[in-house]
Amino acid sequence: MEEYQKEMKGLALKLIGLMLGSLGLNYEDVKWLKPKNRSRPRALLQLNSYPVCPDPTRAMGLAPHTDSSLLTLLNQSSISGLQILVDGIWWVPVHPIPGALVVNVGDLMHILSNGQFKSAVHRAVVNEVHHRISMAYFYGPPMDVKISPLIAHNHPLYQPVTWKEYLEYKATHF
Ligand code: OGA
Ligand code: NI
Repeated sequence: MEEYQKEMKGLALKLIGLMLGSLGLNYEDVKWLKPKNRSRPRALLQLNSYPVCPDPTRAMGLAPHTDSSLLTLLNQSSISGLQILVDGIWWVPVHPIPGALVVNVGDLMHILSNGQFKSAVHRAVVNEVHHRISMAYFYGPPMDVKISPLIAHNHPLYQPVTWKEYLEYKATHF
């Protein structure tokens, strides 16, 4: 578990660096991401288990949601179940590809990029014959650091918010 999280952290940082680069930014523009501060970001590994269900149409696996992280790196087992909401109406399956991870843009990346990177609504459905497992690595900033749009110019779409505050708002209003 520790080794896995170490690998995921490196990958998350690499991907965030590339995403910042595409916005014309780099690690130096984000105080808590500067190499000397990198021990501070928060991350957690969530282990999901979806038992076999005789009637999947009447059960909820994981309800529709967006991840509250900056980025999520999801490792699915070989059983399909993840779906993404496209155009607000279509649930499209994200089938597992052996050896591949799914990268979800989280709400905090959505805020940081002023909506350039959009957090995606997704859910997990259960399977009639197979038990399914997945591992989600959520990567985010230190809990008490204000996250605000970095490329807003004069038009920020979101107010500064800490991860902690954001989770509280989401728990109340989502
Ligand atoms: C999650 C999630 C999907 C899955 O843990 O946030 O979206 O396929 N999991 O288990
Ligand atoms: Ni999720």
